[in-house]
Amino acid sequence: MLTPSDEVYRAVRSLRVVRAFTDEPIDKAVLEQILDAGRWTGSSKNVQGWILVVVDDPEGRDRVALAGQFTQPVLDSPATVCLVKTDQGNDFDIGRLAQNLMLAAAARGIGSCPVTLHDGARARTVLDLPDGHECRYAVALGHPDRAAEEAAREERRARGVAGRKAPAEVIRRGSV
Ligand SMILES: Cc1cc2nc3c(=O)[nH]c(=O)nc-3n(C[C@H](O)[C@H](O)[C@H](O)COP(=O)(O)O)c2cc1C
Repeated sequence: MLTPSDEVYRAVRSLRVVRAFTDEPIDKAVLEQILDAGRWTGSSKNVQGWILVVVDDPEGRDRVALAGQFTQPVLDSPATVCLVKTDQGNDFDIGRLAQNLMLAAAARGIGSCPVTLHDGARARTVLDLPDGHECRYAVALGHPDRAAEEAAREERRARGVAGRKAPAEVIRRGSV
């Protein structure tokens, strides 16, 4: 029998991005839970230097998508959370925030994909950010289209771009 900690481990160990979504909207209460889990992310000196901007209208998603180069998941998903780093924030904390949103989403059956907003100036304009705030990353959220996702994953496997490097390549012990 799986213990609760087994389930947490399995969720962390098996999280993959989802880029294929169904048209089903995300239940409002579920989205609130995902955002709340993100809000509880730890941050350096507990500064919480972030603002989570939910963009869930088609025009808004179109505008956000124009701020990045590989933003199809934003266009294909019902909601995108833009991770605004305030003038107090830092990149490490934004990464933790993103991962927590993704894990919380997965726990509620919602797939997610981090998206880079390469055009920082455009992202600032689209999100109407004050000086000192920036948004380099967003997380697209939606119900996974499992068949389409599996087909895309199979195609990536065939090209040899799926999975992870071997442990020996990325883990070492000791210091000099
Ligand atoms: C910082 C960061 C930025 C990313 N930007 C994009 C992006 O702009 N568009 C996209 O489709 N995927 C993006 N991804 C998703 C990665 O391509 C994905 O995490 C990687 O291919 C591993 O996918 P997997 O966990 O399903 O194996 C990004 C991921 C990270 C961590």
